[in-house]
Amino acid sequence: MIDVRLTAVSKRFDKSSDAAAVDEVTVTIGAGEFFTLLGPSGCGKTTTLRMVAGFYFPTSGQIHFGDDDVTHWSPNKRDTGMVFQNYALFPHMTVAQNVAYGLRVRRVSRTERDRRVSEALAQVHLSGYGARRIDALSGGQQQRVALARALVIRPRTLLLDEPLSNLDAKLREETRTEIRRIQRESGNTAIYVTHDQAEAMAMSDRIAVMQSGKVQQVGSPQEIYYRPTNAFVARFIGRSNVLSLPVVGAGENRVEVRLSSGATIEVGAATGHGLTEGDTALVSARPEHITLAGGDEESALRGRVTHVEFTGMATNLTVDCDGTEVMAAVIDAPATINVGDLVGLRLVRERLWVVKP
Ligand SMILES: Nc1ncnc2c1ncn2[C@@H]1O[C@H](COP(=O)(O)OP(=O)(O)OP(=O)(O)O)[C@@H](O)[C@H]1O
Ligand SMILES: [Mg+2]
Repeated sequence: MIDVRLTAVSKRFDKSSDAAAVDEVTVTIGAGEFFTLLGPSGCGKTTTLRMVAGFYFPTSGQIHFGDDDVTHWSPNKRDTGMVFQNYALFPHMTVAQNVAYGLRVRRVSRTERDRRVSEALAQVHLSGYGARRIDALSGGQQQRVALARALVIRPRTLLLDEPLSNLDAKLREETRTEIRRIQRESGNTAIYVTHDQAEAMAMSDRIAVMQSGKVQQVGSPQEIYYRPTNAFVARFIGRSNVLSLPVVGAGENRVEVRLSSGATIEVGAATGHGLTEGDTALVSARPEHITLAGGDEESALRGRVTHVEFTGMATNLTVDCDGTEVMAAVIDAPATINVGDLVGLRLVRERLWVVKP
């Protein structure tokens, strides 16, 4: 187990352009931690992972594995196991030959190699598949071969680039549980790349949310979900309403805002939010933290229903509140609710959070 530290790591593919693919990324990934890089397509996730693996060198910044500065080490010196998005298996080889590849390169003896290959195949529940050809396996099985191939060399760090992207929904969920189990058992430090926020939340100890090459926020799934730092993170992690509301008072970790009904409410905010009376606060409110107000209660927001969607778990409503579209996910909504209805909405105050633009 080893910690991985990135210090102001940048990568510019095009030296003449201002845009960096990865821009001053600083994160410390703890020993044994399952850490995820999450963000939209093109935000720099793969580039960051490839710099950790040694396939690209940073334009500036340092990468440390424990006390070792590995910034300019070649990939084979780094002792990382990488699972590529497209598996990158050798189609003309058997499962066992694919898994044994890294051991062959490292000149591990034949007996030791056979022993470790069966051990790795057992780890991914593919014992007995050693002699199969790669093209005679399902996508999920191929994905697990790729994982075994990374695990078999007993790497200090496991790097996974969207390893579930080609699987169907059910297999994705099964395999993510499997990957996490294997990582826990092996105790590896793992860096996982995905653009799927639900996957990131379900699997990770901590997540770094990236946008345009920059890390926007690092935190546990709960921190990122309940306390997003800015409107981008709030909207990228699940669905979120970001309401613009006038500030009528402020304290160190709270902001008082006025709702369209005239009522004022207190909303949690990070230290150093910098808002004062007269400013406009951006308040993140998740649909699941908005419910229908009872008939006699003072509602936080009122508006007309513009869209109704029954999902089984909840009824998703879109409500036009004075020109602002507000999404609410209501459990036990009356079956009669329909487009055009006038409704009152109640906000779960302790779940509201002030975000930066
Ligand atoms: N080899 C390369 N040469 C030039 N530009 C590159 C290269 N690789 C990536 N880029 C650019 O760097 C940026 C980040 O790419 P990267 O592959 O890291 O994104 P990503 O977050 O992994 O996206 P995706 O989710 O689509 O895989 C993009 O703008 C991309 O076009
Ligand atoms: Mg990528």
